[in-house]
Amino acid sequence: MKLIFLGPPGAGKGTLAAKGVEICHIPHISTGALFRSAIAIMNPLGSKVKAVIEEGRLVDDETTILLVKERLAQKDAQSGYILDGFPRTLFQAKALAAFSAVDKVLNLEISDAAALERLSGRRVCRKCGANFHITFNKPKHEHRCDVCGGELFIRKDDREAAIRERLEVYREQTLPLIEYYRNQGLLVDIDGQGLVDTVVTNFKKALEIC
Ligand code: AP5
Ligand code: MG
Ligand code: ZN
Repeated sequence: MKLIFLGPPGAGKGTLAAKGVEICHIPHISTGALFRSAIAIMNPLGSKVKAVIEEGRLVDDETTILLVKERLAQKDAQSGYILDGFPRTLFQAKALAAFSAVDKVLNLEISDAAALERLSGRRVCRKCGANFHITFNKPKHEHRCDVCGGELFIRKDDREAAIRERLEVYREQTLPLIEYYRNQGLLVDIDGQGLVDTVVTNFKKALEIC
């Protein structure tokens, strides 16, 4: 199953993808996570994209498309994948169509107010990338990851100014993809506002696996 997760920042794409990996046994490919790994080791890609990401703007299409093309060519992605955060522009969507056919596009919907609340309370594990929230998904220990014990940190793009920029960029550049994929009959809307378990149930219904 080849899936795209669309949705604004904070919609819960990463959280749902972590569950989707267990349900569908396919890899979770997050362009944001790939960029953050490159930044963590400060390789040439990391130094190129660091400032852009921390300010909440989009990395250029050419760099992003090449990254995804190479990742999708790997063995584990041949029978399926969850693409989280890609495509994010019409140009990226058309480029993707030339190298991979997707089965469904899941559009996670939440309000701006919910996105702000979720992102301003998010904590991320430095070691394994797991997401927590200081209210909605509290880690057992304030600064440690429940999964691997790694240190929890606040993403630089989760400051309020960067969140607002990301929401604006989403509206301008990514929103048109909803109609693009709806016109192709691939889009399924999912209410992302409920509890994580409810969103997982909505996901299974959308894939007709429960
Ligand atoms: P990326 O990492 O993809 O960030 P994003 O799209 O802004 O989305 P987030 O990761 O912030 O939110 P999410 O939907 O995954 O929510 P999460 O599950 O964490 O991209 C980062 C940057 O990389 C971009 O700004 C851009 O610069 C660059 N980039 C990436 N892809 C690119 C591309 N294709 N082209 C160009 N540039 C690109 O949940 C959020 C919080 O809410 C968590 O704390 C979680 O615990 C909590 N939560 C989740 N679900 C629920 C729920 N149901 N109820 C209550 N709380 C919940
Ligand atoms: Mg994410
Ligand atoms: Zn961890």
